[in-house]
Amino acid sequence: MALLDKHKIIETNATLLLVLSFLVVTVGGIVQIAPLFWLENTIEDVEGMRPYTPLELAGRDIYIREGCYVCHSQMIRPMRDEVERYGHYSLAAESKYDHPFQWGSKRTGPDLARVGGRYSDEWHLDHMRDPQSVVPESVMPKYGFLERKKLDGKYVGDLLKANAVVGVPYTEEMIANAQADFRAQANPDSDYDGLLERYGDNVNIRSFDGHSGVSEMDAIIAYLQMLGTLVDFSTFTPDASR
Ligand code: HEC
Repeated sequence: MALLDKHKIIETNATLLLVLSFLVVTVGGIVQIAPLFWLENTIEDVEGMRPYTPLELAGRDIYIREGCYVCHSQMIRPMRDEVERYGHYSLAAESKYDHPFQWGSKRTGPDLARVGGRYSDEWHLDHMRDPQSVVPESVMPKYGFLERKKLDGKYVGDLLKANAVVGVPYTEEMIANAQADFRAQANPDSDYDGLLERYGDNVNIRSFDGHSGVSEMDAIIAYLQMLGTLVDFSTFTPDASR
């Protein structure tokens, strides 16, 4: 009872309550925030993560422009039903080159964090043109127009540059070769050695939409086919010390 009596003093004095509340929140805030300044990094580095290729990055921009994130999330939670349906739960490092991240907040359609490699390019093409032809009950809109919008990649170097400013490790060389790499990825007959050298052997190089030249459809399918494939989960072991 005595303790509660003392509490009454605080409860009946608005200024005192405000000052003490402020102190409590400050201590809590410092405990949460201060360690972040001493940690080497807050995101565990994971082998395999690389910056997106120019074509994938352009596809990602189209994904954002078209509002795909309104219906699709890109974050698999570490719960059994999600892991069984979508694969290994998402790691923080897997979205470290996303500005802004595409975790999403609503799933009208399935999570796309690991959709890469799950379907063929032809499946994606049919599905993007007319989702209902593949999944009759689908409420996803048709995106066939992306196929008719050709891209020359004139400004894709600027896109890389903007991402470099916010911390994605694009090198001068990657930026200088952005347009060439952009075209090479959608053309299996091109000279794509430089592209592989710069981004690694796990880059998919093919005509994603089945036509010559680069269309917005090429870009978005290249992006989708890369999602969730960069980290090799057959060799990955989480760092238990964190
Ligand atoms: C109005 C909501 C909506 C929007 C917007 C939308 N989708 Fe979908 N999407 C769905 C639904 C529902 C499904 C599940 C049925 C189906 O496969 O069509 C789906 C399925 C998918 C799948 C197959 C996933 C799987 O694992 O089977 C992909 C890939 C996909 N969408 C990509 C996209 C892309 C890319 C965009 C933007 C260009 C987009 N969606 C926009 C609702 C949407």
